[in-house]
Amino acid sequence: MNILVLGSGGREHAIAHKISQSSKVDNLYVAPGNAGTSDIATNLEVGVNDFDTIKEITLSKQIDLVVVGPEDPLVNGIHDFFLNDSELRNVAVIGPQKAAATLEGSKEFAKEFMIRHQIPTAAYQSFTAENLNDGYTFLETLQPPYVLKADGLAAGKGVLILHNLEQAKNELKSMLLDSKFGAASATVVIEEFLDGIELSCFVLTDGTNYKVLPTAKDYKRIGEGDTGLNTGGMGAISPVPFADADFMHKIEEQVVKPTVDGLKKDELPYVGFIFIGLIKVGDQPKVIEYNVRMGDPETEVVMPRIKSDLVEVLKAMADGTLNEVNLEIDERTATTVMAVSGGYPEAYEKGKKITGIEDIQNSLVFHAGTKSVNGEVVTNGGRVMAVTSFGDDFGKALELSYQNMEKLHFDGIYYRKDLGFDL
Ligand code: AMP
Ligand code: GLY
Repeated sequence: MNILVLGSGGREHAIAHKISQSSKVDNLYVAPGNAGTSDIATNLEVGVNDFDTIKEITLSKQIDLVVVGPEDPLVNGIHDFFLNDSELRNVAVIGPQKAAATLEGSKEFAKEFMIRHQIPTAAYQSFTAENLNDGYTFLETLQPPYVLKADGLAAGKGVLILHNLEQAKNELKSMLLDSKFGAASATVVIEEFLDGIELSCFVLTDGTNYKVLPTAKDYKRIGEGDTGLNTGGMGAISPVPFADADFMHKIEEQVVKPTVDGLKKDELPYVGFIFIGLIKVGDQPKVIEYNVRMGDPETEVVMPRIKSDLVEVLKAMADGTLNEVNLEIDERTATTVMAVSGGYPEAYEKGKKITGIEDIQNSLVFHAGTKSVNGEVVTNGGRVMAVTSFGDDFGKALELSYQNMEKLHFDGIYYRKDLGFDL
């Protein structure tokens, strides 16, 4: 098979790495990819939202299967684009159609879906500029902290957690009246604050059948002790030690099954990955969000733990035969530590030469923001490179990730040294 992976981050490198191990692959392409993916696949310089050029390369490279990494092209309808084109219709696309991608594209849509299918989540109401005053009144009925969410995609920045009522009212006003997050905050979801510990659950579905992938926990804040600004993710651990069999059973029965059944009942075709963001409140899982893709850096710990041939699994998803697949998972713990550019998530410089990659031993290196320039690997983003290791527990796995991280060098390199501190 000829396979195309869309995206350019650590997630896509980890997916491409897993695909490259399959004997079922003839040619593997990544668009646009990074310096890491170019070692295991052919990079094609095409943007993930440039559907016309994606069509051209799909035809010229005779692609059989496309794996969509990020949410943007899904929310923009790339799967529908393939289905509506007579020349592309038979190419398998891993990633939901636009209607189901709205689960990530609109928080209000996701909340309505959860309520309709009795999936446990925080109580909420949504507001627009027309009923701002009702929003103020609703805030007055809640206890702090207050959770305000821009309805649309806001590059991971659209959720505000505020400790004071006046502040919450001001932020609500600035989201609704001053377009604080642009069109994304034309509708705002206000919800009950959930006090607990977060984890992510990943599910594969063909629209009818599903398989639960390993859980993971990511570290979103830039600073140690979970302080400072939010980032795309500074590292991840899989499995999450507090998600025992009993809790996983609850997740499967109360969240995964009703989600997959709900998609079918609502006639929302879904072939792809479902990323369910959860908070464990007491012993109960509650959903805080759906994403219609894999997480990054969670993929860098989840993919390496899959022992089965990923291409067989992806093919079964596209064919609607996921129930026939046996998904084998490595029991060991995987951890990943992300090296980022100095200054990230605020302003940072690019183009710094990276050295020491070849000295890394017994870990996997996934490139996030890199490119090759004249045979050298240089930084090309805020998140630069993830080092993934296995261990009998997360402490041992992290030890190896950190040992190897010390060998990696670029001007301004920063990474968190306290992952797992809360477990
Ligand atoms: P989201 O984009 O919905 O994942 O929200 C971003 C972050 O805000 C989450 O990772 C949580 O840490 C936090 N968060 C979202 N919703 C809630 C909630 N209802 N209660 C507490 N924290 C929340
Ligand atoms: N690591 C969180 C995300 O991918 O959204």
